[in-house]
Formats: sequence, structure tokens, C-alpha cells
Amino acid sequence: MKKLESREDIELLVNSFYAKVIKDETIAFFFNDIANVNWDYHLPKMYSFWETILFGQMTYKGNPMAVHFPVNEIAALEKRHFEQWLKLWKETISEHFQGENADMAITKSENIAKLMAFKMNLARRL
Ligand code: HEM
Repeated sequence: MKKLESREDIELLVNSFYAKVIKDETIAFFFNDIANVNWDYHLPKMYSFWETILFGQMTYKGNPMAVHFPVNEIAALEKRHFEQWLKLWKETISEHFQGENADMAITKSENIAKLMAFKMNLARRL
């Protein structure tokens, strides 16, 4: 099994992940119906996001939390959605990669998802 070590690897990972996401019973509707995602724009952002997190290449500039609040206002982003997101992310990683960066991609996503779930929940109570 391959190590996760280049921009090309990230592109493969992110593309394979969103291929699952857009067919997923639990979370696809956020992307397909609520946000109506422009994939030509979103995918390169995600490559840069993960490149920044994993390799310290500061190619992503943005606020990853901010874009989720408007989505959360239309349809609640709940704990079960984040669990499903994480399940697909981990599944995709383990289908393609192993090693330190693959592990880090999992740990980081768990931490961000936890914080994001907390913030989305809080925003709904305000
Ligand atoms: C159920 C969970 C999630 C849903 C439904 C969701 C949905 C979305 C949607 C609809 C967008 C906007 C796409 C666009 O139109 O540009 C987005 C952007 C993004 N998401 Fe998520 N997301 C989830 C979890 C996560 C997690 C756990 C992470 C990080 C580990 C993450 C990272 C990002 C980033 C970096 C962007 C791009 C932000 C930017 O435009 O700068 N998302 N997400």
C-alpha cells in the first residue's frame, strides 16, 4: 500500500472521497441540493486544504469553518452527518494509503469534525 506523500496523492484521495460523498444516502444532499457545489471550484480548494494540513504547503487560504454556517442554517449539520463524513473519509484513505500522513489525515479530520460539529450545534442554539 502506498504512502500519502504528494499533491497527486491528495488529488486521488479527495476525488475518490467526493465520488462517495455525492452518492451517500446520509450526506449527499448537503452538497447536491443545499449548497449546489461547483466542483471545479471546490475540489482544487480541498486539494490545497489538505496539502496545507499534511505537508505545510500554505496553498490554502480561507476559513474552513465559515462556509459551513450558511449550510447549517438551511439544513442542520448534525453529529450523525459528521460521523458519516468521517466514515467515508477513513474508508477512502484506507483503500489507497497507509503510513504517517495517512494517519495524520485521519486524526486531523477527526479533530476538525469534532470542533465543527460543536460550533454548528452552538450556532443553532443562538
Ligand atoms: C457532514 C459534514 C460536512 C458537510 C455536509 C460539508 C459540506 C460542505 C459544503 C457544502 C461546502 C461548500 C462547498 C462550496 O460550495 O464551495 C464545504 C466546504 C468545505 N469543507 Fe466541508 N462539510 C462537512 C465536513 C467537513 C469537514 C469535517 C472538513 C474538514 C476536515 C471540511 C472541510 C471543508 C473545507 C476546507 C471547505 C472549503 C472551504 C473554502 O471554501 O475555503 N468539511 N463543506
